[in-house]
Amino acid sequence: MKIAVIGTGYVGLVTGTCFANKGHDVICVDVIEEKIQKINEGTVPIFEEGLDEMLKDVVSKKKLKATLNMKEAITNSELIYICVGTPSKEDGAFDYVYLKDAAQKIGEVIKELDEYKVIVVKSTCSPGTTMNLVKPILEETSQKTAGKDFGLGMNPEFLREGVAIKDFLNPDRIVVGGIDEKSQEIITKSYEGFESPFLNVDPTTAEMIKIASNSFLAMKISFINEIANIAEKIGSDIQDIAKGIGMDDRISIRFLRAGLGYGGSCFPKDIQALHRQSVEMGVPSDLLKATMKVNEAQPLRAAEILIEEMDDRSLENRKIGVLGLAFKPDTDDVREAVSITLIEYLLERGAKVFATDPIAIKNFREILNHENLTLTSKVEDVLTDSDACILVTEWKEYLNLSPSTFKELMKIPLVIDGRRSLDAEKFRNEEITFKSIGLGR
Ligand code: UGA
Repeated sequence: MKIAVIGTGYVGLVTGTCFANKGHDVICVDVIEEKIQKINEGTVPIFEEGLDEMLKDVVSKKKLKATLNMKEAITNSELIYICVGTPSKEDGAFDYVYLKDAAQKIGEVIKELDEYKVIVVKSTCSPGTTMNLVKPILEETSQKTAGKDFGLGMNPEFLREGVAIKDFLNPDRIVVGGIDEKSQEIITKSYEGFESPFLNVDPTTAEMIKIASNSFLAMKISFINEIANIAEKIGSDIQDIAKGIGMDDRISIRFLRAGLGYGGSCFPKDIQALHRQSVEMGVPSDLLKATMKVNEAQPLRAAEILIEEMDDRSLENRKIGVLGLAFKPDTDDVREAVSITLIEYLLERGAKVFATDPIAIKNFREILNHENLTLTSKVEDVLTDSDACILVTEWKEYLNLSPSTFKELMKIPLVIDGRRSLDAEKFRNEEITFKSIGLGR
């Protein structure tokens, strides 16, 4: 099929590249010239495992190209996936400025065309957006009718950063929310050869499935983090508890890793937007509110543990090492990362923070600068002469560090595991004071 992908951010680029890999002819559209150039050279402007090679391959086989020219892309495609960003506004609602712009430009192009096109929203949005925002804009600008002159649908993405290619090619399910049978069929055809189950629903239900899935996963994380905080007090280990709970098929162990909370560009913004919508609609969700509240407090648990361990209960002029800045391992993304909340708190209390990350330092620097914050690529600089060290992101390279390295380099061997990922026994054998989220012994 001939497919246009509007927006070459993380979702758009993965979607376009994977569709091209599956044999479709893909044209990606963006408004940033530099990005277009890079894509056409086969270079990935973002960090995503495996994307680089796949993009190079499809570009060299001429299955994917990028352009600034929306008209060219739409004219030459039967299916148009909208993958533009929907960031948060100050008030927590989704900002549809890019979505509206894309819909308007698509409408203007299809006004001049006779061929039937199907427009698919892939951007995450509040339930009702495709029908109440995108459809009217398309109809108004094109002077045509959805369901008659062009097709329309919503097809949410369930991609995790770092494993997005795998998630795209082997999804647990493919949710297709077409406005009519014809749209449904054409959208489904783009996934020909996929062995995953399909679920056909209306666009608003598709939007709700996406945002409710993220909310549920975030709720699981906040739940296990609350249990972790209790586990510390009752003298148990959250790892054993999560294992025991997760052995029940109805619950499952996935997304029951306790730690400093969730971050990233999806969970925080999606839950906030759904909560806001629930309030506006007069059915306020207490569970979503509680999920957010637990998550806001959780990064500071590491600081609380730290302060409890200091003989004078003060962080003034203490050198605190931070291992990991990205919102999760294998990405350079620091959006809404718990490292930001935690480091800000430590700095407010007068600590001198030395932080490192394998690839996210550059992005972190753009978010936070402070005279008492040193960002370094060397783990050694973080640990040397430090009064304590906190593991914030569970990068493999940090989990592989030997406890003796901590012992040798640190001034006070106090290690706080913010992800319940390190082997407590090994650290304690080295006479290191080892504390962890959810570890009560
Ligand atoms: C999330 C969803 O998992 C995807 O299905 C969804 O498509 C995507 O959002 C999106 O809406 O685009 P992502 O944000 O890439 O994907 O990352 P996750 O792997 O889900 O992790 C999110 C956060 O939760 C991270 O900060 C991670 O450290 C934290 N987490 C995850 C936990 O604290 N515990 C867990 O057990 C799992």
